[in-house]
Amino acid sequence: MKTSTALALLAASGPVTASVVRPAAEQLAKRALATSDPYYPSPWMDPAADGWEDAYAKAKAFVSQLTLLEKVNLTTGVGWAAEQCVGQTGAIPRLGLRSMCMQDSPLGIRGTDYNSVFPSGQTAAATFDRTLLFKRGNAMGQEAKGKGVTVLLGPVAGPLGRMPEAGRNWEGFSPDPVLTGIGISETIKGVQQAGVVACAKHFIGNEQEHFRQTGEAQGYGYDIKETLSSNIDDKTMHELYLWPFQDAVRAGVGSFMCSYQQVNNSYSCQNSKLLNDLLKNELGFQGFVMSDWQAQHTGAASAVAGLDMTMPGDTEFNTGISFWGTNLTLGVLNGTVPAWRIDDMAMRIMAAFFKVGQTVNQDPINFSFWTSDTYGPIHWAANKDVQQINFHVDVQGGHGSLIREIAAKGTVLLKNSGSLPLKKPKFIAVIGDDAGPNPLGPNACSDRGCDNGTAGIGWGSGTANYPYLVTPDAAIQAQAVKDGSRYESILTNYANSQTRALVSQDNVTAIVFVNADSGEGYINVDGNEGDRKNLTLWKNGDDLIKNVSSFCANTIVVIHSPGPVLLTEWYDSPNVTAILWAGFPGQESGNSITDVLYGKVNPSGRSPFSWGATRDSFGTDVLYEPNNGNDAPQQDFSEGVFIDYRHFDKANSALTYEFGYGLSYTTFQYSNLKVRKSNAGAYQPTTGTTAPAPTFGNFSTNLNDYVFPSNEFPYVYEYIYPYLNTSDAKAASADPNYGQSADQFLPPHATDGSAQPLLRSAGKSEPGGNRQLFNVLYTVTADIKNTGSVVGDEVPQLYVALGGPDDPKVVLRDFDRLRIDPGKTAQFRATLTRRDLSNWDTTVQDWVISSYPKTVYVGRSSRKLDLTATLS
Ligand SMILES: *[C@@H]1O[C@H](CO)[C@@H](O)[C@H](O)[C@H]1NC(C)=O
Ligand SMILES: *[C@@H]1O[C@H](CO)[C@@H](O)[C@H](O)[C@H]1NC(C)=O
Ligand SMILES: *[C@@H]1O[C@H](CO)[C@@H](O)[C@H](O)[C@H]1NC(C)=O
Ligand SMILES: *[C@@H]1O[C@H](CO)[C@@H](O)[C@H](O)[C@H]1NC(C)=O
Ligand SMILES: *[C@@H]1O[C@H](CO)[C@@H](O)[C@H](O)[C@H]1NC(C)=O
Ligand SMILES: *[C@@H]1O[C@H](CO)[C@@H](O)[C@H](O)[C@H]1NC(C)=O
Ligand SMILES: *[C@@H]1O[C@H](CO)[C@@H](O)[C@H](O)[C@H]1NC(C)=O
Ligand SMILES: *[C@@H]1O[C@H](CO)[C@@H](O)[C@H](O)[C@H]1NC(C)=O
Ligand SMILES: *[C@@H]1O[C@H](CO)[C@@H](O)[C@H](O)[C@H]1NC(C)=O
Ligand SMILES: *[C@@H]1O[C@H](CO)[C@@H](O)[C@H](O)[C@H]1NC(C)=O
Repeated sequence: MKTSTALALLAASGPVTASVVRPAAEQLAKRALATSDPYYPSPWMDPAADGWEDAYAKAKAFVSQLTLLEKVNLTTGVGWAAEQCVGQTGAIPRLGLRSMCMQDSPLGIRGTDYNSVFPSGQTAAATFDRTLLFKRGNAMGQEAKGKGVTVLLGPVAGPLGRMPEAGRNWEGFSPDPVLTGIGISETIKGVQQAGVVACAKHFIGNEQEHFRQTGEAQGYGYDIKETLSSNIDDKTMHELYLWPFQDAVRAGVGSFMCSYQQVNNSYSCQNSKLLNDLLKNELGFQGFVMSDWQAQHTGAASAVAGLDMTMPGDTEFNTGISFWGTNLTLGVLNGTVPAWRIDDMAMRIMAAFFKVGQTVNQDPINFSFWTSDTYGPIHWAANKDVQQINFHVDVQGGHGSLIREIAAKGTVLLKNSGSLPLKKPKFIAVIGDDAGPNPLGPNACSDRGCDNGTAGIGWGSGTANYPYLVTPDAAIQAQAVKDGSRYESILTNYANSQTRALVSQDNVTAIVFVNADSGEGYINVDGNEGDRKNLTLWKNGDDLIKNVSSFCANTIVVIHSPGPVLLTEWYDSPNVTAILWAGFPGQESGNSITDVLYGKVNPSGRSPFSWGATRDSFGTDVLYEPNNGNDAPQQDFSEGVFIDYRHFDKANSALTYEFGYGLSYTTFQYSNLKVRKSNAGAYQPTTGTTAPAPTFGNFSTNLNDYVFPSNEFPYVYEYIYPYLNTSDAKAASADPNYGQSADQFLPPHATDGSAQPLLRSAGKSEPGGNRQLFNVLYTVTADIKNTGSVVGDEVPQLYVALGGPDDPKVVLRDFDRLRIDPGKTAQFRATLTRRDLSNWDTTVQDWVISSYPKTVYVGRSSRKLDLTATLS
């Protein structure tokens, strides 16, 4: 989401083709634009879906009592800044249900206080540790719960990381879909076990910041009429971008957020192919879909295309009007939006709510996103009803030690010629702006939108306010004092003569801290509109390293960054004796890196992305300039599944460091690979049909019953309600086109509530797709021996070659993190499911195992594949 209010007026609904956009003739002449096939009707919930039975029983009991106005209240946000959270729904006072609170972010609670700042998703992914990923999610869920948050807006699998420059990659996990799938699933389970609904976002193809919103693009000088279109073919969609979202559905996620940009020239929040077909039918998603903030562009059309909740509810921030609210009430009353569809929306929202254990009489929301003042207006935009709105509840729950552990275990040792671990070094010189504090405080820049001092996280809505930030300078100095080491630091990159004088002294261990930063598109930092404009280090980091290492034979480099940076100019210098990637570690930054530098934590992080030698070598890049006149910029994902290591392997090009790579202070030996086949039986495609769409309760069609009850409570300025301001429908709607019937502007079958065929790839009541896709076909084991002298964690990785001419050389399929004592051997055990061995067959529309010979590998990175076997 974003906070800028300077936005172009969005097109009103008009004669909407919800999914098919027909480009004008002259554009067609220029280039044939990608299109998206219509898919209707919107699949309704399945009360018997695995894991959702109790939730749906409770939802049915609740929703059956609701009036139409109350149902609409559940689906529609009350407007930007209308209540305390970044988004809130209407309430149901009659039944004691308070408004639901939607709050950022994927690494903590945004915009409040006495909360923790966790390591970024990407740093957590680098642990390759399911338990830590779960614990991080669970701790974030507990903090959200303690503030009264209903839905925590994360975790992220879009962006996946198609382009290393993309601004928000650090919010997610990894460009590898399996690692991201495990990251998103464990996080979801953790958040939801704490009683808070998780939100898988941004669905889908949200791979860059540039041109995701028209108003934002105007802010940096481009007048485009529609947002970027990510054009993704069906096979790439399934094998790469949809894969982790499938895992999210399987993990029982309660909500999804559709994204700002278009896919195949149809807006994600009204793309029926995405929401109705892929998400709700094929994957069998049973929760609700909310829009990203202002990502809704139509009313009835988005409803029948599968959107269930509009956020923050107004068409644009603070217009006081909505595509839903009044319009949705009218749309149901006049028959455009079928009654079963609004019932389905309400059921999905309430089922997600009950699934995580929430109850109707929830505890209150006890913070305000809009101010840190204790007292203020509860309706912030309207400046109305001053009361205590911040209770400053401390929800940190001692999570600092977990944060420290995750960041240390997510730190990747890229190079070590023997200088690490440090053992009471005689003299340490720490150099660099990135080792020190922001002189104006860790929260000085709004949403962390600057790069001053150490980079603990990136910028944008995916952030939280620091309760404290332990800098590398403070933590290493404390250790040095304890050890009796001499310690000096120079916390700028630009004190050349002083730095030179310091690091030229005898017996110095120089530790240079450098960074790169990125974030969300509504903030520009140093010319970076969210997306990075280059892959080099910021603030002359390369020069700093080269200068220090030209005078100091023991130069250790620590990098904080949102992905790869180019190390080419200095990484192989003999004077650069160690390189560490510490990601975005969160509030315990200094403690975590000190633990690794001194060997309290034996490094075992693995790079969740590849480090190319040049920017071009990555093969993909952000689209920085519109390429379709004033119409939607077109981004063709023509590389298919070949991003990150799959691309480098295909191009057979050299890498500085590869995906999955990372060193330890000990050594490991791999042996004894065994592959055991399980008898899963032949795949049975799903057949049959759904039940017809159910409805719950009935409603009055007398428009007088829907008029704003001004005798009951006062209208709040700019607030979005479900009511009509007059019993004249056309006047209440204020839509000049009001009166068109469904068949005039909705696609065929949009209102059809009859039983529908089940897809062969979908299960029967199986969220995540046909359960046979997850049958284990092979179990793989190998012995891993610690051949060094200290205890350490090793991350054995299972890769597969699917064998076809269009398949990547290898793809990651499983991994584990094993703690092994010196001299001891541990067994690595991993599994291969049917999906793991299949390709998406675009003709059959299902996962199919090809006849090409398949090979399995167990190794320590995507390019160090120690053990190999062919599959029978
Ligand atoms: C986008 O177009 C491609 C090429 O026709 C097609 O394979 C794919 O399914 C489309 N995706 C969506 C979401 O419409
Ligand atoms: C809708 O929600 C608002 C608060 O957001 C509440 O004031 C109103 O009473 C609700 N309407 C109904 C019909 O429950
Ligand atoms: C803060 O919110 C939580 C969760 O709703 C609640 O349990 C707690 O009582 C609230 N505290 C205050 C001081 O309002
Ligand atoms: C209903 O939606 C239309 C756009 O489709 C908008 O112009 C109108 O203002 C909306 N009405 C209300 C009451 O929000
Ligand atoms: C029904 O209501 C919707 C939403 O306001 C509107 O777009 C549509 O034109 C109306 N149709 C009829 C037939 O009144
Ligand atoms: C903080 O960073 C901004 C650029 O992001 C820079 O203009 C400003 O001078 C910095 N402030 C301090 C105190 O370093
Ligand atoms: C550097 O260390 C060596 C070995 O410990 C020692 O002999 C030498 O005197 C030291 N030099 C300085 C300037 O401390
Ligand atoms: C890359 O961008 C950063 C941040 O804006 C800037 O400091 C650096 O100078 C740029 N690098 C090059 C080579 O232009
Ligand atoms: C590196 O050294 C050169 C030559 O002394 C100097 O001009 C430059 O400013 C130095 N750069 C940094 C970042 O220290
Ligand atoms: C390494 O450092 C020494 C000073 O200890 C210096 O003389 C030498 O030139 C440096 N080598 C490189 C390749 O920078």
